[in-house]
Amino acid sequence: MKFFIDTANLDQIKEAQALGVLDGVTTNPSLMAKEGITGSDNILKHYVDICNIVDGDVSAEVIATDFAGMVKEGEALAALHPQIVVKLPMIADGVKACKYFSDKGIRTNVTLIFSVGQALLAAKAGATYMSPFIGRLDDISTDGLHLISEIRHIYDNYGFETQILAASVRHTMHIIDCAKIGADVMTGPLSAIKGLLKHPLTDSGLAQFLADYQKGN
Ligand code: G3P
Repeated sequence: MKFFIDTANLDQIKEAQALGVLDGVTTNPSLMAKEGITGSDNILKHYVDICNIVDGDVSAEVIATDFAGMVKEGEALAALHPQIVVKLPMIADGVKACKYFSDKGIRTNVTLIFSVGQALLAAKAGATYMSPFIGRLDDISTDGLHLISEIRHIYDNYGFETQILAASVRHTMHIIDCAKIGADVMTGPLSAIKGLLKHPLTDSGLAQFLADYQKGN
């Protein structure tokens, strides 16, 4: 399973990259705003800064909601850097734009997916990635992980190559459960990734090893 970090915070991206397990970055307009990155020029520059930190794919989201606008914006985003993946919303024009980009060999990430029907459409339109938001489904008493397993089942039935990018991951157990189900990618906060490190027996075992070493030296 690929690990993407879901942030526009450059320090957190650098920390995840330095850990050596980072495969890419996802962002969205809310994450950009959270970092105080506003205005089209600043946002475009920020995408390039992110690409220069990481080796993998960086999702950059269009703001337009009509086909022509999405195509124009998406082409400009894709031209920014070879690592950019054009992120499109799961609406009718987003599906059309996904097919357009797929036919042109431009990689896409269809976002805001909350149902298997939407997942089918994204795959049919040739999306590179599709992003089901598991945390937001959990928020409304619906099992986000169950959606991931249903999509996995359907994609495997037909050999769809669209990668399931489990998004809106909120905590460490989401990552582990996504790996059990067979999501291709997960994107989450740095805290959730770092949570995978933690075990008290690792800490106490290391403390004991170091204490025993000191006794003999
Ligand atoms: O990857 C999608 C993500 O940014 C949404 O996460 O926590 O706002 O539901 P959240």
